[in-house]
Amino acid sequence: MNVLLLGSGGREHALAWKLAQSPRLDSLHAIPGNPGIAKYAACHDVTLTDHAAVIGFCERHAIGFVVVGPEAPLVDGLSDSLRAAGYGVFGPSQAAAQLEGSKGFTKDLCARENIPTAGYIRVADLETARLALARDFPRPVVIKADGLAAGKGVTVAMTDEEADAAIAAIFDKPGGEAVIEEFLEGEEASFFVLTDGTDFVTFGSAQDHKRVGDGDTGPNTGGMGAYSPAPVLTPALEAEAIETIIKPTIAGMAKAGTPYSGVLYAGLMLTRSGPKLIEYNARFGDPECQVLMLRFEGDLLELMLATEAGELAGREAPRFGAETALTVVMAAKGYPGTPQTGGAIDGLDAAEETGAQVFQAGTKLDGGQLVAAGGRVLTVTATGATVTEAQAAAYRAVDAIDFPTGFARRDIGWREVARERG
Ligand code: AMP
Ligand code: GLY
Repeated sequence: MNVLLLGSGGREHALAWKLAQSPRLDSLHAIPGNPGIAKYAACHDVTLTDHAAVIGFCERHAIGFVVVGPEAPLVDGLSDSLRAAGYGVFGPSQAAAQLEGSKGFTKDLCARENIPTAGYIRVADLETARLALARDFPRPVVIKADGLAAGKGVTVAMTDEEADAAIAAIFDKPGGEAVIEEFLEGEEASFFVLTDGTDFVTFGSAQDHKRVGDGDTGPNTGGMGAYSPAPVLTPALEAEAIETIIKPTIAGMAKAGTPYSGVLYAGLMLTRSGPKLIEYNARFGDPECQVLMLRFEGDLLELMLATEAGELAGREAPRFGAETALTVVMAAKGYPGTPQTGGAIDGLDAAEETGAQVFQAGTKLDGGQLVAAGGRVLTVTATGATVTEAQAAAYRAVDAIDFPTGFARRDIGWREVARERG
């Protein structure tokens, strides 16, 4: 089968690496791809917002299946256009992708289906927002812009001043909408399931590091590193999250006439009163996907095809290796502000000779030299018997890479490493 993979990040490089191992794959194409993905796929320039152009591409290249990596094409309805043209897709419909695209949509589903989540209100004007902040929510309080914000539209306000500033920034522009939320205390974990709209299989857990600096300091990013599995999500907590959060979500989406098909990524807060939903994503996480793919032992293409075909009923949970996988993001200096692009990157072969996998994100070839072309540039991924060993292996590979205009956190996995030390 000829497969088209959409996206250009480290997540998509990891998906390409895994798809390329499938005996069902004849050829892999990517739009737009990157130099890492180009090792497994023919990369093409097609504007993803031009649905007719993507469908035309699929016709010309006899594509049998499309795998959507990032959220933007899902929220834009590309999977609906492709399905209407007769193509199978891994990724939810536009209506179902609202689970990621609209925080208000997800909160309303939680309310209808009794899914544990932070108490909230949706507000559409500054006056109502100010009143609610003064009357109904103690500090800290969480303020979220509604709509796709790539993880950057969330403020955890410790003080009245911070809360006021966050609300003012949202209603600064016409049409602003916000969700004001109760602050949840606990440790965060990510949990993944693949669902065909009715049935589901679990697909592992991970923990992400969102802040740019060591010790979880500095501004939020798309993620600076991750590891899988996340031992904090114990089998008992996972079972509870499945019963209280995952099953009612899948059933509630079907009931609402917007069945969800694809990977469902639940961001959970493990509170003293059990797991609560922070947010859903309609795609694999980046860099969580990299650690999941390193551990996943099955045929990814076959599993994705079964998801789209509605054939997950009665299927055994996918098998994962027993080792921990850990990934370290190497970013260009300046990230998450304006990254310094164009810096040379060398030593990827030496890094992979240590046994690691280097998945490329914001890279490009400049006259044969690999250079930085974005904020997050590389995700250096390794496995080990413990988080401590996986961390050591990942940093051995990071240290083999010569990327003077880049930086990485040095403490990915610190919570578990501290726990393993006892
Ligand atoms: P979100 O984009 O909704 O995932 O939020 C980004 C981050 O903000 C989360 O990963 C949490 O660290 C934090 N956050 C979001 N909502 C809450 C909440 N209700 N209580 C505490 N922290 C939160
Ligand atoms: N690493 C967080 C995300 O992909 O949303």
